[in-house]
Amino acid sequence: AHVQVIAIDGPTASGKGTIAHRVAQQLGWHVLDSGALYRLTALACMQRNIPLDAVDQVADIASQLDVRFHELGVYLDGQDVGEAIRQEAVGNGASQVAALGPVRAALLERQRAFRQPQGLVADGRDMGTVVFPDAILKVFLVASAQARAERRYNQLIEKGFSANLLTLLHDLEARDARDMQRVNAPLFPADDALVLDSSDLSIDQTVAQVMAWYKGKL
Ligand code: C5P
Repeated sequence: AHVQVIAIDGPTASGKGTIAHRVAQQLGWHVLDSGALYRLTALACMQRNIPLDAVDQVADIASQLDVRFHELGVYLDGQDVGEAIRQEAVGNGASQVAALGPVRAALLERQRAFRQPQGLVADGRDMGTVVFPDAILKVFLVASAQARAERRYNQLIEKGFSANLLTLLHDLEARDARDMQRVNAPLFPADDALVLDSSDLSIDQTVAQVMAWYKGKL
């Protein structure tokens, strides 16, 4: 495949989604939010009362997901679930179904299908290690747990939700531990990934660093 991919992996709330979108915008490339596919799988199971540890059934759901990504929303079975998949409960469900090998296998080709001209910026946990091992640039985006919890806290408050910083911090650390300790595609940087710590960087500075690394690869 000649279409270039930039892989951006990292832990929960490290800013991968924001950075991936900005970089894709600057390059005029497509973007893949791979976490959304795990969230959609979890949501579809929850809607059908399928237990999240029922491997075969969850894998069936994953392989048959009727999903459409639009500028304005994410559609599951024709319903806009853009907001619903952002709920904490769905995020936690996503990290449960993401631990199942057959579910990951069911979503693999669907993710690779996002690789379309002129290019793709893909964010997730295993973009550089499993899904796009030939990515031209692999970024492992990290930030301290404190910085990530504060960012999420500010996002929630801005939207008018109530939030508790300590609870967010604990949830974040639990999700990180689960993503790193699982057997199937655990979260870790690819050998050839460049680690970027955004704890003390603005969004613009983080995007600029990714763009500079990309230009250095050409
Ligand atoms: O990135 P996001 O928080 O939306 O992902 C939700 C969950 O999906 C993560 O906690 C992780 O367990 C899982 N995931 C994954 N592999 C990816 C993307 C997300 O296992 N490539």
